[in-house]
This record gives sequence, structure tokens and C-alpha cells, in this order.
Amino acid sequence: MMAVELYAAHRGASTISAGTLWMSETTSDLKGFVDVAAIGELSPDEGRIVEADGTWLALFLADGTPHAIANACPHMAGPLGSGRCLDGIVTCPIHEWRFDVRTGQAPTNSYTRVATYETRVVDGRVFVRMADPGEGAANL
Ligand code: FES
Repeated sequence: MMAVELYAAHRGASTISAGTLWMSETTSDLKGFVDVAAIGELSPDEGRIVEADGTWLALFLADGTPHAIANACPHMAGPLGSGRCLDGIVTCPIHEWRFDVRTGQAPTNSYTRVATYETRVVDGRVFVRMADPGEGAANL
């Protein structure tokens, strides 16, 4: 995903949200992606639990960009989307394991991670790629 103002202006910017001008993409760029939320529904300090193709995801806004991870904590399946998020690090509400929502990596344990999913923003909507989840999905 790109948030380059000049490129967005060239292609036709679609949405202004949280100081970011998102570029417009065509629907042909979205094969395998699922529409899960409006970008304006996300805030930097709390997650949002969404369902995409039968999978529960936790959606966050970090560094002005939406990020999607598996909602089930790898410890005991706590709802990561209900955890508090600070500077891109979500804390599981059950036993307080922490994960970087940008990478899925636990900051204090290199062996623990949660699946990540590619996101894109088109016309103010957040899309998550479900056809080929990112690194870490196989560990769950
Ligand atoms: S269920 Fe998430 S830390 Fe235990």
C-alpha cells in the first residue's frame, strides 16, 4: 500500500483519513482481498475484530496504516482485537502477551508470532488479502 500524495493525486485520490492521502487502486488489484471495514472506523489505540472469509481477524491502525493479524492469540486464543494497542504493540487482554501488529512478532520472544495479513485501502475501505496470508500463518 502506498500513501504517496503526488501519486495519489495523479491516479485520483479517494479518501483523506488521519492525515494520509490514500491512492486509488482499481478493483483488478484486489483479487483475493476481502472488504472488512472503513478506514475511518479505525483508531491508533484500539483494535477492531472483523470476519473475512470465515476467519476472525484483528484490525489495527499503526503508523497511519491499517494492519491485520489473526484475532486468536497463539497462547490460549484470547481476542487480540480487544486488546489495547500502543505504538503498534497490542497487548492480549487475557494474559498480556504482546505482539507488533505490523509484523506479528512478539517483541520479547523471538519464537512467538501471530499471522499477519496484507491490507490495502481503496475508496476509504480496508481490504485484507485472504487468498495467501502472510508469514506466520503456518505457525498457528
Ligand atoms: S490468551 Fe493471550 S496471552 Fe494468554
